[in-house]
Amino acid sequence: MKIPDRIETRRLVLRKLNHTDAPALYENIRLKRVSRWLKVVPYPYPKNLALKFVLEAAAKFENGTGFNFGIEIKGKVKKVAGVISLDKVNYENKNAVLGYWLGEKNWGKGYMTEAVKAVLDFGFKRLKLHRIQAGVYSENLASKMVLEKTGFTLEGTEREKYFKEGRWGNYHTYGLLKREYK
Ligand SMILES: CC(C)(COP(=O)(O)OP(=O)(O)OC[C@H]1O[C@@H](n2cnc3c(N)ncnc32)[C@H](O)[C@@H]1OP(=O)(O)O)[C@@H](O)C(=O)NCCC(=O)NCCS
Repeated sequence: MKIPDRIETRRLVLRKLNHTDAPALYENIRLKRVSRWLKVVPYPYPKNLALKFVLEAAAKFENGTGFNFGIEIKGKVKKVAGVISLDKVNYENKNAVLGYWLGEKNWGKGYMTEAVKAVLDFGFKRLKLHRIQAGVYSENLASKMVLEKTGFTLEGTEREKYFKEGRWGNYHTYGLLKREYK
């Protein structure tokens, strides 16, 4: 299977990460307003973690177990503004987990909705997946909007799944099947 390492949409380029992306990733993800919504991202964010992340992402891309794309906004400086991924790719059961984040200054312009649509296309058409799922902290209204706008169904609530900022919070899981995707 030929896997593209670059996907273009109207306003974005999604492309395979490399080690030169680490500083731009760090500048965006180290901010609490971004990382507070990401289960696996620590705060404070150690500088060396960005490089470790891109190197691991490149290795997973090569062996097909996960596809992290850096998000570049066309017409802006060629620096990654965020990341979108299809991770934990299970070829036997044809499913994967969608994840994403964008640097704060680019929020609210529809960029992530555009990126998710392109990655769903990649997942269902190129990887021939049957199911794509995503998990969201229940207070993350922007992310839930992105999933709802791109056709996902809320499948469940994991009650008091995490302790964050002094209180227990629920975690929502969403899924989208190939036959529901248009
Ligand atoms: C979630 C995130 C990726 C959204 O990216 P984005 O490019 O701003 O998303 P879009 O502009 O495509 O869509 C966001 C939608 O949420 C809506 N929205 C934003 N904040 C909202 C809020 N507080 N309440 C309700 N809706 C909200 C927007 O209005 C928009 O909907 P619309 O197009 O119908 O107006 C971005 O905010 C982000 O990176 N957040 C931090 C990391 C994160 O949460 N990652 C996801 C983890 S599951």
